[in-house]
Amino acid sequence: MLKLFSGEILKKKAECLVIPVCEDADIHDDPSITGLIEKVLKLKEFKGKKDDSVVLYDPAGTKLERILFVGLGKLEKIDAEALRKFAGKSVKELIKKALSEIVICAPGPEKLNMKDDVLLSAILEGAFLGNHLFDKYKKDKKKKPLKIVSVFTDSKFVKSRRLLPARIETICKGTILAREWVSMPSNEKRPDRFVRSMVKAAEKEDLSFSILDEKALKQNGMGAILAVGAGSRSRPRLLILDYNPLKNKKSSKKKKTLVLVGKGVTFDSGGINLKPSASLDEMKMDMSGAASVASILITLARLKHKFRVVGVIPVVENMPSGDATRPGDIIKTYSGKTVEIGNTDAEGRLILIDAMAYAIKMFKPEVMIDMATLTGACVVALGESIAGVFSTDEELAKEIVAAGEATAERCWAMPMPEDYKNLLKSEFADINNMSSTRWGGAITAALFLSEFVENTRWAHIDIAGPAYSKKAGDYCGAGGTGFGVRLLINLLNKI
Ligand code: BES
Ligand code: MN
Ligand code: ZN
Repeated sequence: MLKLFSGEILKKKAECLVIPVCEDADIHDDPSITGLIEKVLKLKEFKGKKDDSVVLYDPAGTKLERILFVGLGKLEKIDAEALRKFAGKSVKELIKKALSEIVICAPGPEKLNMKDDVLLSAILEGAFLGNHLFDKYKKDKKKKPLKIVSVFTDSKFVKSRRLLPARIETICKGTILAREWVSMPSNEKRPDRFVRSMVKAAEKEDLSFSILDEKALKQNGMGAILAVGAGSRSRPRLLILDYNPLKNKKSSKKKKTLVLVGKGVTFDSGGINLKPSASLDEMKMDMSGAASVASILITLARLKHKFRVVGVIPVVENMPSGDATRPGDIIKTYSGKTVEIGNTDAEGRLILIDAMAYAIKMFKPEVMIDMATLTGACVVALGESIAGVFSTDEELAKEIVAAGEATAERCWAMPMPEDYKNLLKSEFADINNMSSTRWGGAITAALFLSEFVENTRWAHIDIAGPAYSKKAGDYCGAGGTGFGVRLLINLLNKI
């Protein structure tokens, strides 16, 4: 649990006080904190260099059991992300010591030239996210998360930012929900079960939902979703989560609706175009877009967001079998257009086009954004920590990139060159799901999607790189990262 607090820090009883220290400046407003730092600097073992730390036990003149001093390095390098990392790392360190209640001292916003809410949010976020452990599948749960993290700051911020800790907690819980779904093994989240798990979480909130099962998918002519699901015993689904705060209110104004679409491939074997075995286990993460979209809707409901947002989530398992779709097959999609399956491993774009065409028809959104672990090519282009943003609407792409800068979920706007559409030509059908060249694969995938969005204001975020991490980060464990949740919540508050 997160709290803000102020008062006399030396009289505070706590298992640990964490103090960030900068090597070339005093960043604290509270004179007692500055005094404590002066004391430790005198020992000459610790200078505040980045990632250095030292623990002082039973510090004289205080009621604290220990103080953890953490170096932040040079003042000019400290931004919100540095504070998130500092808080996350400190929490992880203190979990190892089996503590339960700690206090983190926030620097003075003016000293860092930051807005107080940005500074406090970053520390609260880093602490809460760093406190998450994914040990569901371990028999011996060796570590326990901290119970209470209090952030020490000036009394004026404790008053003016009274609602901040609860809000950050809600958003971080959404991020963690997405992380857990992504890290969950594919044998525990086959399509029907994954959909039920999302519905179970949504039911507790002010969300309505509907599920199209295989029969309904057939009745609706969703040939693309059905084709991808054809090889698996676990049949495909389309889940719709609807957050509509204005549903009971009469208003003459046109109501704004935003649609979020998330790729939900619970395991991507590649299908008949079977993937090589290296890292195949990681393809349990191919439903990260779905996990983020569901978590965002749940979070928006908890935050009582002001306008309607609908999540449209196609969920399938891409498997090879005697019933699987073959390369060369031609399918009819929900839009009416036919697609030649050049490659069964380019399955994400197939399930997305049925979901997007359906969303446009049913909800006529002002804006539609899809999130998908769509291409390995995007990871080749931007690496593992940056998502690709594709949109024919430059303004929308810019807004997404800006939101990502604020939340440190980095995004980069990619081009959508019209002439590359030639690469998707099919001899026999309206379009091929596979480009005729291997180059620019993230772009051709986005162009394929763009053929199915009509004139809706739309953006596609390829999260193949940042959705999953083999290694733990400073405020994230190994596995799902929950990428996109904080990003979209930030964006939705601006548009
Ligand atoms: N799910 C994969 C993309 C992916 C790759 C996600 C690595 C995360 C990490 C997607 O369905 C896929 O297989 N894409 C193919 C497309 C190709 C066959 C046109 C790819 O990227 O190789
Ligand atoms: Mn694939
Ligand atoms: Zn895939």
